Amino acid sequence: MNQQSIHVENLVKNFGKGDSFVDVIDGASFSIDKGELIALIAPSGAGKTTLLMMIGCVEEPTSGEMWLGDEKVYDNKWLNKDTRAIRREKIGFIFQAHYLIPFLNVIDNVTLLSQANGQTKEEAEKFAMELLKYFDITEKAYAMPSQLSGGQNQRVAIARALANKPKIILADEPTAALDTERSVSVVQMLKKIAIEQNVAVVMVTHDEAMLPLCDRILKIEDKKIISSKVMKDTTMI
Ligand SMILES: Nc1ncnc2c1ncn2[C@@H]1O[C@H](COP(=O)(O)OP(=O)(O)OP(=O)(O)O)[C@@H](O)[C@H]1O
Ligand SMILES: [Mg+2]
Repeated sequence: MNQQSIHVENLVKNFGKGDSFVDVIDGASFSIDKGELIALIAPSGAGKTTLLMMIGCVEEPTSGEMWLGDEKVYDNKWLNKDTRAIRREKIGFIFQAHYLIPFLNVIDNVTLLSQANGQTKEEAEKFAMELLKYFDITEKAYAMPSQLSGGQNQRVAIARALANKPKIILADEPTAALDTERSVSVVQMLKKIAIEQNVAVVMVTHDEAMLPLCDRILKIEDKKIISSKVMKDTTMI
């Protein structure tokens, strides 16, 4: 069985033309395996969010090739015009600001997408309660987001990202708004998900303290991607 979850060859991404031309990624090649927790690091403006959005089939690359699991999704153009369907089927997103919908309670936030994807309310809620249990937050199922702490909010956001059973989780600075203790617990949770559900997790982070918790570091350098092993006892940047 193919262990690769994400495979990218010679990916290029430019924005704009003429004076506003920016070349962000210029020939990135890398692979990420199922079950891996990857830290994606680079200075501000280097293209981390752009890269996540290309992997998530939100932002179209300029050129290159990309596989998600066994499916080749991009070969100098999207191979399936319905990129939303690929996203729905394969990807879970977690953002820095958790973007829970403020006027829906926790369980409705978690089930919203699954219901939009055609699951019945009962099916969606059953799985959502399992997720909330997994994240030790069932007692907040009927609370509103404003009644939760930052860490609880982020756990609900992670539960929501898992509601569609994605094979890839893309997290853009998921711990930026949390203190170190909460951050460690969120990253440990992502690692647990990666292992237990055989999911590839790519996490953008600026927080060096999170690096030892990851399996590998991908760094955007000179518009390319460099992979390095995590040093468990030294800082990397
Ligand atoms: N839609 C867009 N149009 C034009 N330029 C863009 C667009 N989106 C991003 N860029 C440019 O691409 C570069 C990379 O941006 P990106 O948001 O990916 O950086 P980042 O590494 O995520 O930074 P940060 O750490 O600040 O979040 C920046 O120079 C940015 O200005
Ligand atoms: Mg960014």
